[in-house]
Amino acid sequence: MEFSIKSGDLNQIKTACILVGLYESKQLDEAGTKLDKATGQALTRAVKSGDISGKPGSTLLLHIEKGIGAERVLLVGLGAEKSYGRKAFCTALSAAFKALKGTAVTDVIMSFDSKQSGDDLYWKLEQAAALAIDGAYRFDQLKSNGDSRNVGKAVGFHLPGKHDAARAKEALRRGEAIGEGMSLTKTLGNLPPNICTPTYLADTAKQLAKQFKFKVNILEKKDMEKLGMNTLLSVSKASYQPPKFIVLEHNGGKKGDKPVVLVGKGITFDTGGISLKPAAEMDEMKYDMGGAAAVLGAMKTVGLMKLPLNVVMLVPTCENMPGGNATRPGDIVKSMAGHTVEILNTDAEGRLILCDALTYAERFKPAAVVDAATLTGAMVIALGHITTGIFANKDALAQELVAAGNEKLDFAWHLPMFDEYNDLLKSNFADIPNISGGRAGGSITAACFLSRFTKQYDWAHLDIAGTAWKSGADKGATGRPVSLLSQFLFKRAGLK
Ligand code: BES
Ligand code: MN
Ligand code: ZN
Repeated sequence: MEFSIKSGDLNQIKTACILVGLYESKQLDEAGTKLDKATGQALTRAVKSGDISGKPGSTLLLHIEKGIGAERVLLVGLGAEKSYGRKAFCTALSAAFKALKGTAVTDVIMSFDSKQSGDDLYWKLEQAAALAIDGAYRFDQLKSNGDSRNVGKAVGFHLPGKHDAARAKEALRRGEAIGEGMSLTKTLGNLPPNICTPTYLADTAKQLAKQFKFKVNILEKKDMEKLGMNTLLSVSKASYQPPKFIVLEHNGGKKGDKPVVLVGKGITFDTGGISLKPAAEMDEMKYDMGGAAAVLGAMKTVGLMKLPLNVVMLVPTCENMPGGNATRPGDIVKSMAGHTVEILNTDAEGRLILCDALTYAERFKPAAVVDAATLTGAMVIALGHITTGIFANKDALAQELVAAGNEKLDFAWHLPMFDEYNDLLKSNFADIPNISGGRAGGSITAACFLSRFTKQYDWAHLDIAGTAWKSGADKGATGRPVSLLSQFLFKRAGLK
């Protein structure tokens, strides 16, 4: 998608469509008021017709015959003027791009009125660029009659006279990097599990390495055996798909600076193994590589940004299948860290692949380790599909991530890991069991399991089981939490 910054008379700009805001009070925004005059009140007439309410997310597409350079105006509801802020801005913009998706419009102009200035203007520009890419995204590569119309080819931003051109350009660059990262995350999530295999994820990492000059290392099964990654291998045992352990390194920071390590759960399909899942909606377990997709997406953002920070990405990836050779409930395996683990439920496999990855992370002497994983169904019960759960062995790191999420409206919430939860991890036969405490507090006890492998560094865990994808009519990957992770990395890199 092409972004540009426009100046000059809005009425004269040649474009397929201009976006115009309409408050619930039926008041047009500044651009709308100007265009309305030039078109002999065409916008006012449309509003008076009652075809658009001005409520957040409402839209109405108008064809304009004369008076302005634009062929169309898309009226977009902004809600009440006094509650119109960042969130409402994003809601309106998403609705606008959604409305344009079914049309022939390929280029649009967004106008920021003269009241817009300061941090908020650049925040909105960055967000708009990301949302434009997000809004134009479609996944139809596996449909025979995919819609090939070139939606969202170009977006022009018409800015108020007083603005900082360099900052505006930078905001678009960041938004674009985030949007492209999210698109990759969504596509990996949406691809079916017969295509998006561990090998496919490894190939994707290799492509990123080539594109952005990352260092790449793919550990094969025999390498993992040598390292003693037995908990990881216990999960992949019954699958015909070879497991992979993907390592990507971006050395954008100073030589010797400790890296931020991102770790993503890469179960490309989770049947539950011998502790088999019920059939209903099992197809959604193709999204169980959502953590891997998110960190790969974040690496794309890092690469596009040429971020001045050292970042390492680790993705343990395999399939969790039943079979004659599968791990049994009751099996005991030794993790890379040397703890023996009693696998009481083969469906609690995410923590088994992550714990070896968290041990592997030690060798990078990380500044911080952040993992993202669709780890527990209990997370969906606790926070629904709105908020990502954060667990950490250091409160400041959790707060840093919450703040990064807030900044990008990619919300997350810090949950506790008190000793009382940790004490539940007891096995009669091994050092630790892979499940403990029953269903109660399932996301917390899962995080506590991981915390046993993170003694060497500051660590946070994002449970994205509820936020990485949507079910129902709009089934699909959301691209979360790429913007949270990106913002966290931008800040760590010292971007203002
Ligand atoms: N991948 C699932 C978690 C999950 C479930 C994510 C539903 C999104 C939606 C994970 O591997 C799993 O199966 N967890 C079990 C843990 C249990 C056996 C302790 C769960 O949540 O039921
Ligand atoms: Mn599972
Ligand atoms: Zn899983």
